[in-house]
Amino acid sequence: MVLKQDTARSPGHGEVPDAALPKIVYGRGSRLYDATGKDYIDGSGGPAVFCLGHAHPEVNEAIKQQLDRVAHGYRYNFTSDPLEELTEIVGRRCGPGLGHMIFTTGGSESVESALKVALHYHSANDEPSRRRFIARRRSWHGNTLGALSVSEFKERREPFEGALIPASHVSPANAYRPPAGVSPDRVAQFCADELEGEIVRLGARNVAGFIFEPVVGAAGGVVPAPEGYARLVREVCDRHGVLLIADEVMCGAGRCGSWRALEHDGVVPDVMAVAKGLAGGYVPLGATIYSDKVADLLTRKAGGPMTGHTFTGHTLACAAGVAVQRIIARDHLVERVARDGERLKARLTDRMGDLPALGDVRGRGFFIGLEFVADRATKEPFPAERALHLRIRARSLANGLICYPMGGNVDGVKGDTVILAPPYNATDAELEEIVEKLDRSVREALGDIFSTCMVLPGLANQT
Ligand SMILES: Cc1ncc(COP(=O)(O)O)c(C=O)c1O
Repeated sequence: MVLKQDTARSPGHGEVPDAALPKIVYGRGSRLYDATGKDYIDGSGGPAVFCLGHAHPEVNEAIKQQLDRVAHGYRYNFTSDPLEELTEIVGRRCGPGLGHMIFTTGGSESVESALKVALHYHSANDEPSRRRFIARRRSWHGNTLGALSVSEFKERREPFEGALIPASHVSPANAYRPPAGVSPDRVAQFCADELEGEIVRLGARNVAGFIFEPVVGAAGGVVPAPEGYARLVREVCDRHGVLLIADEVMCGAGRCGSWRALEHDGVVPDVMAVAKGLAGGYVPLGATIYSDKVADLLTRKAGGPMTGHTFTGHTLACAAGVAVQRIIARDHLVERVARDGERLKARLTDRMGDLPALGDVRGRGFFIGLEFVADRATKEPFPAERALHLRIRARSLANGLICYPMGGNVDGVKGDTVILAPPYNATDAELEEIVEKLDRSVREALGDIFSTCMVLPGLANQT
């Protein structure tokens, strides 16, 4: 019997059939090689994971050494040097007030534990009625049932509707696509007011937490919240005793040019989820981090948060995390990302700005989103069945570029975005190669659309 590994579909396959994937054989730095010997520049670190590229000799050595000692000391039997050192490093990187954490094996588990920490906090605080979560539309928090319940990725939710936990969804804070009738400069205040309205509507004593991505990843095509938004929602939550939960699975661990994405906003959340970049994709690792306020109460009233798994604090994973985080600190890579992210964005705009289909280039650090539209002035997206993002993916793969195209950012079905999230240590020449190959792939994909006869006003000589 042949076992088939199905890969999840992204929205809007439309006219583009599933293509056979190349078979990965090895990687070196920012480059990956498939079984035919073809090489790819990794422009998105897979899904914003591989922050040090591939096969970094120091990380590999640390993993091998740990494996030769012991793979894992189960958490009810042992602590370990890697676990303690990574706890110390992450605590220091998070800054004052966020020194407590539970390690997990990935993003969904980190979000799941974040939700549970919030619920447990309220139970221990004698407010067991606080059960409800508020999240935002066009956000993704993970595939486990709790994380999926607060997510609003239409296609991924649909098969499970009816079994998901009730959650409210408020507007995304997206200045490029503001809520109807709201000017871009009013988005932050409007969204904060809407959140407060929802808390009041539900009754604050029923609301456990507000979860949001400080910079939305896959579901929005990299959408940083407008300036001031994070501070406003922090204040709203404080006014109503609601915990602020930052999902930094994709945008955190240095990706946006500060170790915590919310550092940029001067905001400290009550609970935070990180994953992807924490161990750089060398082994699965995530963490749920929570504040002293949450930790003190949970320790005093309940002896600690009630969550965790067999592989919580996995020793080998923590050793990988320590190696990755030491290199990032030693080589000043978060600072590098902060410095060169703006330059990368400017290069993309220079190179592709003549394309009428390029609606927006946005993001922070090495987390950059490009949104493509059928009409720049009205921001009308391409018809979903044209699946532009999938055509870009196909063309990128053919051209030897790994990027992260995604559909559905406008309404869950329509919308075409591409995420770039290169390794923090990619060379300037590699960044330039990413820009050049993306530019070529997008022009070819748009050419494919027009050659398959779509006629949209104003798009004639687009490529
Ligand atoms: C913001 C965010 N949260 C949670 C998750 C879920 O993480 P994982 O796929 O590692 O379970 C993701 C995954 O892309 C994500 O982008």
